[in-house]
Amino acid sequence: MHSNLSFEQAPPLSVPYRFFLTAPWFGVAAGLLLAFMGEDMLASRWTPAALAGTHLLVAGFMLQAMCGALLQFVPVATGGNIWQPGWVAAWVHPLLIIAVGLLVAAFLTQYPVLFMAASLGFAVALGFYAVVVGVALWRTPAQSATIVALRIALIGLVVTLGLGVTLSLGLAYQTDLPLLALTDVHAAWGLGGWALMLLAGVAYFVVPMFQLTPAYPGWLARGVPLLLLALLLVWSLLPFGYPDGVRQFVLLSGLGTAGLFAGMTLYLQGRRRRKVSDTNLLFFRTAMLSLVALLFSALLFVALPDLGNDPRAPVWLGMLAVVGVFVTSINGMLYKIVPFLNWLHLQRLCGLNSLPPTMNQMIPERIMRRQFYLHLTALACLLVAVWLPILARPAGLIFALACAWLGVNLVSALRVYLRFRNRIRAAA
Ligand code: HEM
Repeated sequence: MHSNLSFEQAPPLSVPYRFFLTAPWFGVAAGLLLAFMGEDMLASRWTPAALAGTHLLVAGFMLQAMCGALLQFVPVATGGNIWQPGWVAAWVHPLLIIAVGLLVAAFLTQYPVLFMAASLGFAVALGFYAVVVGVALWRTPAQSATIVALRIALIGLVVTLGLGVTLSLGLAYQTDLPLLALTDVHAAWGLGGWALMLLAGVAYFVVPMFQLTPAYPGWLARGVPLLLLALLLVWSLLPFGYPDGVRQFVLLSGLGTAGLFAGMTLYLQGRRRRKVSDTNLLFFRTAMLSLVALLFSALLFVALPDLGNDPRAPVWLGMLAVVGVFVTSINGMLYKIVPFLNWLHLQRLCGLNSLPPTMNQMIPERIMRRQFYLHLTALACLLVAVWLPILARPAGLIFALACAWLGVNLVSALRVYLRFRNRIRAAA
């Protein structure tokens, strides 16, 4: 096991689990929304339903899982001391659920008051969360590449939030703000500055640990977050009148940097010490291949402007990024983290008296593998549905099913934990 883990500081299981167990159901909601709305939802990135579906995934599924993971990861992997994690989770978790619900309703109905209420909810929940996690991250004496990436990710979350609130106010009240251009800046900070940065920071730590690969080279681990940050800063200046060529260059450089991280992860996975391909590895590989596909798709769209100017092109890129990279990697990570945390907490309770169930007994490998194939089918159908609209409704349903199955698997793992814990308590 990794030598730098300090489990003494680990928060109670209820802290990360409330976020982990909620996340998949936002995926179910997004899938059902697509099944209900059908092909119109994928016609352009600007349809109200597309914006609502995007935020069910990015501010629902992804944000829940990522906020929960950081509350666990920062104390255990970086030694950062999070103030009252139980209390923070008890407030942030329900507030985020309410805020996402309000934002989705705002996109679908366009009522200004809903945009305002959602912004207030997000500002309170994420503002509080960012202060508490930020204090822990900046106070820790550790200086690894993971810490650098996590600090930038948190800055990315705050910038995304600030721009999201600005956009919401812009939609609620007619303003002179360049909303379309600011949306691109908000999307880049949300997907690149927050989500990808966090994924990279966590991957530097958990890929070698869980998948038994060599460590990421130091130049890459430190270089990728810093380069991405520099590109995001330049991208943020673009709404102020830069030519299209500069825009494309910055976008492709950002995706190239992300592709470098993905290519290195795939290379390291090829050199892992244990050649077994467990389901977590398959999820992570799929996510990294999606990241590489994102780079090649963007190159293709630049090379073939007729195709690149089709309103479906950005939908294709968004689908690859949000479902292909982030939902996929989070799904795989949850299959490692939840059984591992169950096992760890039970082992502490057991002491020397008995053995806890193995990780494979928490969620059997064959069940995870079947859910992986369903998720893969959903991803393929969603991507094809962007160009073949008749597939939109079935793709939405399959995606909802795959997410529901993930949710059920996580609940079963928790039940195994509770059953065993109650047995130990009864015996004691
Ligand atoms: C936290 C993670 C977030 C991520 C990753 C994210 C990502 C995105 C993306 C990718 C888009 C573009 C969607 C498209 O092109 O179809 C977008 C648009 C938008 N986001 Fe977010 N978002 C996040 C949080 C928020 C929050 C907290 C708010 C509000 C408080 C918000 C408000 C908006 C608005 C209003 C738009 C659309 C603007 C328009 O129609 O011009 N977002 N977001």
